[in-house]
Amino acid sequence: IPVEIFATPKDGAKHVAETIASLIKEKSATGQNCVLGLATGSTPIYIYDELVRLHKEEGLSFKNVITFNLDEYFPIEKSATQSYWYFMHHHLFDHVDIAPENIHIPDGSLPKEKVKEFCANYEKQIEEAGGIDLQILGIGDNGHIGFNEPGSSFNSKTRLQVLENKTRIANSREFQNNITLVPRLSITMGIGTIMRSKKVVLVAWSNKAPIIVKAVEGPVTEQVPASILQQHPNASFVIDEPGASELT
Ligand code: F6R
Repeated sequence: IPVEIFATPKDGAKHVAETIASLIKEKSATGQNCVLGLATGSTPIYIYDELVRLHKEEGLSFKNVITFNLDEYFPIEKSATQSYWYFMHHHLFDHVDIAPENIHIPDGSLPKEKVKEFCANYEKQIEEAGGIDLQILGIGDNGHIGFNEPGSSFNSKTRLQVLENKTRIANSREFQNNITLVPRLSITMGIGTIMRSKKVVLVAWSNKAPIIVKAVEGPVTEQVPASILQQHPNASFVIDEPGASELT
């Protein structure tokens, strides 16, 4: 699997933003929509900063962009500052010209009995949009992509998933460092959903070095969900130099 190594996270993020921008422009030139799969968390923030800059300073338009986010906590209100709905609007959507009806984020505020139907419809909406052209991923310390924790089936679809305690501890920084405030569940695209994307870029910085080496060089196993990307025809990793420190 190709690994692109950059001196700093900012350099790597700029490269990913440029990849996204070229695809948006290429699709727009032929009158097509550009379907993006998006991630949240600390890793992609610089990517969104750069996309906002490209919109404001260089006229990059998001009018032909359709987005599907990977995941959302469950339960959570959209207005909660920890929600991924809030994150995406705060870091990207509020600052560009994307049509609100083109934004798709798993809904963490649904009653539980509605989730199954929502997930099936999410899969259908992705399909009807023509599939995801480019999926951006981060990676958890345990190798999760989206919130597909170790043990998730490689064929999994969008569904309710129990979060590992490790994940809840890692993410408690957004919840006053109090793990009891972190939701126990999430709605996440499945690994099968991610694998159907035409192109995948996994982004990770320095602190992820130990899991990056497992995902890139280790065996393909459901115990390291990101390792399946080794079998994707068009996936790559974008990392910084410290993140590459354990690669052979
Ligand atoms: C977020 C997501 C997660 C994160 C991962 C890393 O939408 O899908 O898989 O990418 O937990 O999070 P950060 O970037 O905060 O280290």
